[in-house]
Amino acid sequence: MLTFILNNKIIKEDIHPGTSLLDIIRYKKDLYGTKVGCREGDCGACTVLEGSLIGEKVVYKSIVSCLTPAGNIHGKHIVTIEGLNMSKLSPVQEALVDNSGTQCGFCTPGFVMSLTCHCMEENISDKSKAINAISGNICRCTGYKSIERAAGDISSLMKNKDIKNPVMWLVEKEFIPAYFKDIPGKLKSIQNTTESNGSLVIGGGTDLMVQKPEEVADKSLKMLYNDSGFKGIFVENNKCIINASSTASDIMNSQVVQEVFPEILTTFKLVSSEPVRNMGTIAGNIVNASPIADLSIFFLALNPDLILIKGNKQRNVKLKDFYLGYKKLDLEDGELIKSLVFEIPEKPYFFNFEKVSKRTYLDIASVNSACFIKEEKGVISNCFFTVGGVSPVPLFLEKTSAYLEGKEISIESISSAAGILQEEISPISDVRGSEKYKRLLARQLFFAHFIKLFPGKITFNKLIENNNIV
Ligand SMILES: Cc1cc2nc3c(=O)[nH]c(=O)nc-3n(C[C@H](O)[C@H](O)[C@H](O)COP(=O)(O)OP(=O)(O)OC[C@H]3O[C@@H](n4cnc5c(N)ncnc54)[C@H](O)[C@@H]3O)c2cc1C
Ligand code: FES
Ligand code: FES
Repeated sequence: MLTFILNNKIIKEDIHPGTSLLDIIRYKKDLYGTKVGCREGDCGACTVLEGSLIGEKVVYKSIVSCLTPAGNIHGKHIVTIEGLNMSKLSPVQEALVDNSGTQCGFCTPGFVMSLTCHCMEENISDKSKAINAISGNICRCTGYKSIERAAGDISSLMKNKDIKNPVMWLVEKEFIPAYFKDIPGKLKSIQNTTESNGSLVIGGGTDLMVQKPEEVADKSLKMLYNDSGFKGIFVENNKCIINASSTASDIMNSQVVQEVFPEILTTFKLVSSEPVRNMGTIAGNIVNASPIADLSIFFLALNPDLILIKGNKQRNVKLKDFYLGYKKLDLEDGELIKSLVFEIPEKPYFFNFEKVSKRTYLDIASVNSACFIKEEKGVISNCFFTVGGVSPVPLFLEKTSAYLEGKEISIESISSAAGILQEEISPISDVRGSEKYKRLLARQLFFAHFIKLFPGKITFNKLIENNNIV
């Protein structure tokens, strides 16, 4: 029995766990404020809030309802635009009106949900964070500047927010209706777990709900998104353990991960959009096995292990050996990814991630690449390079990495390694670019790692001279 709170009502219904939340909201509950746009997670017209009880508080995040399987909202508070209605416009709605941030209005509920969610965050607001909150919302009428101005106004209103308990503060300031005060108690009353032991494994649903929505709506599911055994990021014996259902947002906001990758908050903004990052999991990214999967390319550069489980059996496999061919994996029937594990490198070390896509944000990569380098006295003692979009799998550059070990960081060694890289990749022409273009991108991103990480030694101009680049 699916049990959740929709706005201020507890819902208990027998609904297939693979039904899209958007369809429940609009066609079972007749709440038409949540719009149907792309149904692929791209436009944000269907954005709603998902609140989870954590301790005594409810923590909210934005999600796209079109890609949310019903089973993932069991025990949660779902807020639609109707759930924000009060006797007058909220300050978020007012800011959009005052800045002419709405014209036809189709996208507006989605923007209001994302901006309200930004206000609910337990951290200090600024304009750039408010704009990032709407990274998953597309508007075809207003030209965005007016919406950005509204986001700026909203963030100024957050100056005195109580970041320890933003929800209660927002209720007092009439940003959200008073019923939000009762939600923690109501959520407690409906907390129960459901067993799901179906054949089709699903995490956040951001790949499966796009690729196979009919199958998800029909088959028996194994739902891992809220399974506590698959959640959590922690350190054990100097190893970082990222459990399978950690979302991209969980990873970028984890203090443990930030300690290892200080740039991660900026880097992960290149991955999808805020609501999709709030849903998509690391295991989903790895098993979907797209050759350009950002999380796979990023973590592959630490040469991590995957822990795979089936019943009581457990085995480890290197992530680089997990990909056997295009969408072919070393994963048995019924086997699940439990976690990704990597050794926390001793400081100092160098890490970098690069991505080229047609749009900077909310776009998949044409080519992406990551590198990990340990250097001692100008010599590379250990390194791993990865590149995506130039082979049937997210590619670990075994030969290029091996070649560079023991070499000085110099224009000559990097240029020779770039030659080896070209032999390791096998790009094909497709909608993301021609074979030639992808070869060029792979080399440029490889160079970019060194230009960024070793600016004193490696410069763009010297690489150009040495490689006859015009
Ligand atoms: C609008 C949009 C933008 C996107 N942008 C990007 C982007 O910029 N970069 C990027 O890399 N990706 C992007 N994606 C893809 C997607 O969000 C990610 O790949 C995400 O990490 C998938 O995770 P999920 O939990 O949603 O996967 P799901 O759809 O739930 O599952 C994907 C696959 O993984 C399997 N699976 C899930 N968990 C496990 C487990 N524990 N063990 C075994 N199998 C498992 C499922 O059976 C399924 O085959 C985008 C998607 C959308 C919709
Ligand atoms: S309908 Fe476009 S993101 Fe859901
Ligand atoms: S106001 Fe028309 S799509 Fe945004």
